[in-house]
Amino acid sequence: MIDPADQAAGPAGPAGVPTDPEDPPRPVIEASPRPASATAAATPAPSRGVGARVEISRLSKEYRHGGVALTVLRDVELVLEPGDMVSVVGASGVGKSTFLQILGTLDLPSRGSIRFDGEEITTMTAERLAVFRNRKIGFVFQFHHLLPEFTALENVMMPALIQRMPKATARRRAHDILGRVGLGHRLTHKPSQLSGGEQQRVALARAMVLEPALLLADEPTGNLDRHTGEAIHALFVELNRERGSTLLVMTHNPELAAVMPRRLRMIDGGRLEPAEAA
Ligand SMILES: Nc1ncnc2c1ncn2[C@@H]1O[C@H](COP(=O)(O)OP(=O)(O)O)[C@@H](O)[C@H]1O
Ligand SMILES: [Mg+2]
Repeated sequence: MIDPADQAAGPAGPAGVPTDPEDPPRPVIEASPRPASATAAATPAPSRGVGARVEISRLSKEYRHGGVALTVLRDVELVLEPGDMVSVVGASGVGKSTFLQILGTLDLPSRGSIRFDGEEITTMTAERLAVFRNRKIGFVFQFHHLLPEFTALENVMMPALIQRMPKATARRRAHDILGRVGLGHRLTHKPSQLSGGEQQRVALARAMVLEPALLLADEPTGNLDRHTGEAIHALFVELNRERGSTLLVMTHNPELAAVMPRRLRMIDGGRLEPAEAA
């Protein structure tokens, strides 16, 4: 975990001078060079091919509540191709979060199969799942779930530190992605010192810092005003064009959903059908 004495920039260094959050340049192991400028988003950069192929087949989920069975998902089918960017709209209560939690291995289905690059994940042991989830899956939730005691930079470093990445490398990557979401000037702010939109951008940076094969977002802008929400969705698409994660975003807002290249609607029983653009 993060050693408080080694925080990138504590409240103040000696004589009130903030410690330099930057390390001296070090080689960072990367699959390919990162696009240097924001204009890379205008022309879709070749994806780095990190995205997973996810094949969901006959996925069902029943909850038992007060002795009564409630079927939320019934034989849901979906194939996500590597690098797909997909939005799912659907009425509240239809099963979007349930579906996402199962896909993210935070919950188990009652029946059915999820193959992740050919590997069945619904039968993995808890220990393997914990490693798999950290390495392969990024999450963004409606409420940011940032750790309140840690700075933006430390929050974004956390998944990399859990993976035992060297601290200096983790810091460089976190610094880099925070810059890409426009928060290079907010590294030492704690979540309570950030606006709602900034908090969600930190959460996005944290989800993307390890370049997950699958990036899942559950109403990531449900808590934000429309303008801020649109900017965040645009950022999802822009960053993902560079990185190539397979991306699935649940949202109740059809206008925001329309930003994603592939659009689906969830209807009763969790069935997924193509959605019209807003
Ligand atoms: N742990 C649970 N136990 C019982 N019912 C649940 C549980 N979680 C969700 N549900 C029910 O499942 C349905 C789908 O919920 P959810 O997936 O959260 O929908 P959405 O995200 O589309 O709004 C709802 O009717 C909800 O009340
Ligand atoms: Mg939900």
